[in-house]
Amino acid sequence: MASNCDTMKNKLLGWNCLITCAILLSAALFIGSTFIITECKEKVIGCEMVEAFRMRIPRSMCEDECRPEGSETLPRGIVAKTSDLEMHPLWGPPNKRKSKSPMSLLAMAVGIKQKKNVNEIVNKFPHTDFVIMLFHYDGLLDEWNDLEWSTTAIHISAINQTKWWFAKRFLHPDIVAEYAYIFLWDEDLGVENFHAGRYLSIIKEEGLQISQPAIDADISEIHHKLTAREEGSRVHRRTINIKGPGRRCYGDSTEPPCTGWVEMMAPVFSRASWRCAWYIIQNDFVHAWGVDFQLGYCAQGNRTTNVGVVDSEYLVHYGLPTLGGAENEKSSLEQGTNPKQESSPNKMGLPESHPSDARNANWKDSRIDGKKLPEKINVGLIPFSGL
Ligand SMILES: *[C@@H]1O[C@H](CO)[C@@H](O)[C@H](O)[C@H]1NC(C)=O
Ligand SMILES: *[C@@H]1O[C@H](CO)[C@@H](O)[C@H](O)[C@H]1NC(C)=O
Repeated sequence: MASNCDTMKNKLLGWNCLITCAILLSAALFIGSTFIITECKEKVIGCEMVEAFRMRIPRSMCEDECRPEGSETLPRGIVAKTSDLEMHPLWGPPNKRKSKSPMSLLAMAVGIKQKKNVNEIVNKFPHTDFVIMLFHYDGLLDEWNDLEWSTTAIHISAINQTKWWFAKRFLHPDIVAEYAYIFLWDEDLGVENFHAGRYLSIIKEEGLQISQPAIDADISEIHHKLTAREEGSRVHRRTINIKGPGRRCYGDSTEPPCTGWVEMMAPVFSRASWRCAWYIIQNDFVHAWGVDFQLGYCAQGNRTTNVGVVDSEYLVHYGLPTLGGAENEKSSLEQGTNPKQESSPNKMGLPESHPSDARNANWKDSRIDGKKLPEKINVGLIPFSGL
């Protein structure tokens, strides 16, 4: 439009064009703001997304429209949109926090069989800086009472549900809005070489919105080379895999799992990335395989730089047959399929059974043979068939 205007030699015609420009511009603005307001009416979420554009339309126009659904008749000022997981004493002043830095949250799906290990993990997270939330999938809560931290932790129980079921229902972004980082971890992780405080300062410094501690490849199963610990490194964001089995990754690969990717056994989300990731978790997810490949959308910008693996604080992944294994065996037997095969994609176009997740095949095999799990399960890199 502007360039057209510039080329006009005729003065009169120039004026005409200017007027046309002005009319078109105001029409566009009008349509734009109508669109925005309709969006606002429809959803508060929609409103957040157009936050950036809101500056362009008069404030009062949107303020009423953007109030959370159901709160429109309430006096302005009493609407509390977000909350937290703080416990309050029945009487007296609220508990005072010792830490000045914002709190973070550790949420884990646990069963009593992993009590010892879960205790070790929780003890790595200082209670001054972390809220602990346990999702009990075996319904056995009382057995945890003897642990020192148990009374200050939040316990939620639902039989045979996975981490994703709990997270969708109990970690709504508005409820966990207080927490700087959300650790959504499995229970079968070895934390001997992990320090939560150092981990937090590294991801802050490096600007990692989505991260995970590296996995010690010597004694853990590694599904993708990207998550394996690189000795002597602090953080890595890509891997190169030219000749090994599995997905080929080169120095300039831009796709997960070569870069911009973490695995789902120990992800750590920033507040903003969790707000996004929560929407990816579908209501009917059980294992959430395939979610890892979608998380780049939640990286708050360039996933190549904002997603990474912390090498200096690392974990062992035991790959124990906890809930995930048993459940997968059941469902794959029911479907008459091998866990390694892709089943029909769900509505997100994700395979129900992640082709790259070999843990389940391993567990299944070891059970069929009636053998105990091998001490070291190194299944190598399983060919990635792509999504
Ligand atoms: C939970 O899952 C296990 C293993 O599949 C099964 O044996 C048990 O009956 C289930 N419990 C309930 C209450 O569904
Ligand atoms: C993302 O960051 C990488 C590494 O800094 C850079 O090479 C790439 O061009 C960036 N991508 C975009 C879309 O900005």
